[in-house]
Amino acid sequence: MAVPRTAPILVASNRGPVSYALGEDGSLTARRGGGGLVSGLSAIGPDANAVWVCAALGEGDREAARRAGDSHLNPGDTGGQQVRMLDIAPDVFAAAYNGVANSVLWFVHHLLYQTPVEPVFDAEFAEQWAAYESYNAAFADALAQEAVDEAVVLVQDYHLALVPAMLRERRPDLRIGHFSHTPWAPPDYYRLLPDDVAAAVLRGILGGDRAAFLTERWANAFADCCAAVLGAEVIRDGDGDGDGGGMATAVRFEGRETRLGVHGLGADADFLRERSRQADVEERLSALRAQIGPDRKSIVRVDRTELSKNIVRGLLAYRRLLETRPEWRERVVHVAFAYPSRQDLAVYRDYTERVRRIADEINEEYGTEGWTPVALHVKDDFARSLAAYRLADVALVNPIRDGMNLVAKEVPVVSERGCALVLSREAGAYAELGEDALVVNPYDVEGTVRALHEALRMSDGERADRTKRLAAAATALPPQAWFLAQLRAL
Ligand code: G6P
Repeated sequence: MAVPRTAPILVASNRGPVSYALGEDGSLTARRGGGGLVSGLSAIGPDANAVWVCAALGEGDREAARRAGDSHLNPGDTGGQQVRMLDIAPDVFAAAYNGVANSVLWFVHHLLYQTPVEPVFDAEFAEQWAAYESYNAAFADALAQEAVDEAVVLVQDYHLALVPAMLRERRPDLRIGHFSHTPWAPPDYYRLLPDDVAAAVLRGILGGDRAAFLTERWANAFADCCAAVLGAEVIRDGDGDGDGGGMATAVRFEGRETRLGVHGLGADADFLRERSRQADVEERLSALRAQIGPDRKSIVRVDRTELSKNIVRGLLAYRRLLETRPEWRERVVHVAFAYPSRQDLAVYRDYTERVRRIADEINEEYGTEGWTPVALHVKDDFARSLAAYRLADVALVNPIRDGMNLVAKEVPVVSERGCALVLSREAGAYAELGEDALVVNPYDVEGTVRALHEALRMSDGERADRTKRLAAAATALPPQAWFLAQLRAL
């Protein structure tokens, strides 16, 4: 039995706000997820009848989705949120999520390919692409079914690039927006994709009324791709001298116009400050302090073990720091949290291994009786991340490319004594935080060594001043305001 159309506001994303573990006795245990979308959605309040459509990711999710059928999940599991979890066939899901979204679209937008040998778009990819289409269609069907007349639909991210156009076909009355949480590739790189795929992704997003991004840089890159691949017309902000060189504000294609927008998701200061004072964080703070040792400084990084995060070059820079600036030996610890991510993919497993190996090597080369230079933790623990934010002297955020990077925004909010931020110019956060950070080219290890050295030597006063300004910039658009801004714009 299908659910009646009730939702005036819909959100769609691959990963939903809840996940389930399946016990051996067949019981399901729900675990609520965090992140900007979850707290953003709370801004609209419990009476708004918003529905969140997401995919079942693992066995537990699939079982929960099956038990719910075409209805919503048990609200007791979701904090009252109405969630429709789609039970997509495991092989279709794997091909769409691992094969297309994470191995191809993610790689393109983060410039991750070693182009002499990859990508190779062969018959296997053609099958995966067909799976991606049907996975997107499953979302479009569910959204079309749930939405009341003229409802607003916010589609999230590269997993669901085809949904806006598919949904418009099914329900032309809806107001549809797409939000990209990733960077967008420049046209020459984007055109690595097979021509039909490159066009389909752009046409998919242009099927919406609005396409929004985390920074102007990514919005402009999207518009450039629309011009280069589709021959679409790009409307730009006049920059005063009439040559139209400003930010791209809309794309016109086949008689329709899709407006472009920028919403730089910020940190949730109230939540972070409250959460980082709780008992479990205090406990981990003591443990970390003991691990670092008295009178030592810390360089902290917190990432998913993700190829784009550049953890390896960060470790290489730290090794060079110890080699070329021996005064820091025994006086600093690199606290590196590298949490597991996308371990179904071999390149991610290899990368994780490499991170471990280099950390071990550094500890063997430089470690002493009372000092372990790198404290690498690979088990996901949000409370411990917050503890590390509180005590960090230096935060290292050096991604090759990143849509935003919220760690760069969270550290200054939680930091107790001020923390120097070493920040890649290729992170979206650079647009807002660049002035008070020590900015690095993520590929330049020697440059990163210099930035780390400078950060470690920064005076307490300067660190505190910069941190205050960084925190203000980082919280300019907290998740709830970010979410409401997208809704209003539609
Ligand atoms: C990025 C993407 C999100 C994704 C997250 C975690 O931030 O923009 O859409 O959910 O990474 O990746 P995962 O594959 O674990 O969902």
